[in-house]
Amino acid sequence: MASENGSSTKRGQWASHLGFVLAATGSAIGLGNIWKFPYITGDYGGGAFVLLYLVCVILVGLPLMISELIIGRAGQTNPVGAFQKLHKEGSIWQVTGWLGVASGFLILSFYSVIAGWSLAYIFKSIAGFEGTAEAIQSQFGTLVTHPTESIMWHTIFMGLTIAIVIGGIQRGIERWSKILMPALFALLFGLMCYGLFGTNGGKQALAFLFVPDWSKLTAEAALSALGHAFFTLSLGMGAMITYGSYMKRGASIVKDAIIVSLLDTVIALMAGVAIFSMVFHYGLEPGQSVGLIFKTLPVLFADTGPWVSVPFFVLLSFAALTSAISLLEVVVSYFVDQRGWPRVKATLLLGGAIYVVGILSAMVSWTVMFRGKEQGFLDIFDFITTNYMLPIGGFLTCLYIAWVVSDSVRSQEFGSKDKLYKSLVFVLKYITPIALIAVLLHGLELLPFMEY
Ligand code: TRP
Repeated sequence: MASENGSSTKRGQWASHLGFVLAATGSAIGLGNIWKFPYITGDYGGGAFVLLYLVCVILVGLPLMISELIIGRAGQTNPVGAFQKLHKEGSIWQVTGWLGVASGFLILSFYSVIAGWSLAYIFKSIAGFEGTAEAIQSQFGTLVTHPTESIMWHTIFMGLTIAIVIGGIQRGIERWSKILMPALFALLFGLMCYGLFGTNGGKQALAFLFVPDWSKLTAEAALSALGHAFFTLSLGMGAMITYGSYMKRGASIVKDAIIVSLLDTVIALMAGVAIFSMVFHYGLEPGQSVGLIFKTLPVLFADTGPWVSVPFFVLLSFAALTSAISLLEVVVSYFVDQRGWPRVKATLLLGGAIYVVGILSAMVSWTVMFRGKEQGFLDIFDFITTNYMLPIGGFLTCLYIAWVVSDSVRSQEFGSKDKLYKSLVFVLKYITPIALIAVLLHGLELLPFMEY
């Protein structure tokens, strides 16, 4: 088996094609699909938002995922090194890689805190949810504002993430993705069937998600759909560059990108069906925002009992774990490839540093002024990464692939120069960058036709 200690001759590689697809899908499927997608869909009114989101996945997400995989596989190294190798030593484009490493660091720091809540809810589910709706909902507030508990779960989650990433590509990430991803599909499928056939809300949930009500479509919803398409596919920070760099030649990047995007979308929709069936069964309002999963669902779980709630939070934790390992891998691969650190040292030190920064997010009572409001670090880090760092990273990646890289490298990795290839290049030149600039300007509150 290849050594994975960063020696340049024997870099880690996926053992199988399936292993790569599952790991990349594992990165994509995460809190974004099961926690965020249902609640923003609820907030923006359902079907029309879903449709818009699908368009964004196809026009922005897919082309960008193909771009990242091309850079990764052609470069065969971490995001910073890949830009240097493909462009030139000391190239200005390596800034894109730097930004990606920083984004991975920052995203994981707060992602782990939310994932920790999910772990905590596995145990709350086993104990059972009892009492009035208010009492059940207040459990979330108690958990979040109780720093020792929040930090304990954050510690456990980061510990698991670090343990898997230390194992390297084949023995860590690939092996665990092969176990966790099928388990996740099975659990979610079961939950969706429960929602569709075991509750009275199935039909309404399907109508809510798939029948568009155009009157609910706003510019704000469109921009959120775009931002989310981006986050849910793990784009804009080199996660797919990194995973692509462990790919062997031969597999079709386009086909793989389509499979990963499709699976990610299917899982989000399945989660939506499962969750909204329960919401409608109990006659609740779908627009419950951030609290949908941790506050609203437990009230329903009080009736269903632990056999529905335990699988649900186990599933959420699995999904979060396979995403967290991709976030850490981007940071670790930089120190292994560029600085020659042994994998174990890089994982422990960087994982440890991310853990420490994460404590800021776990301390919800620590607030600072940000954009004119007193806010906690979790919200601030989430806002900065989703609205500034990822769109800028995606924009630079897109410019690089569309205008800078040589056509021969690009078409060779793409696998052809046919119509599909030409359309992709067109989209990457003119459509994707404009969409990303719109997200960025919106984050900066600079879009002229919006009210801020
Ligand atoms: N895609 C993951 C989710 O939906 C989160 C994630 C993992 C991510 N790696 C990423 C987001 C890289 C942006 C970039 O939860």
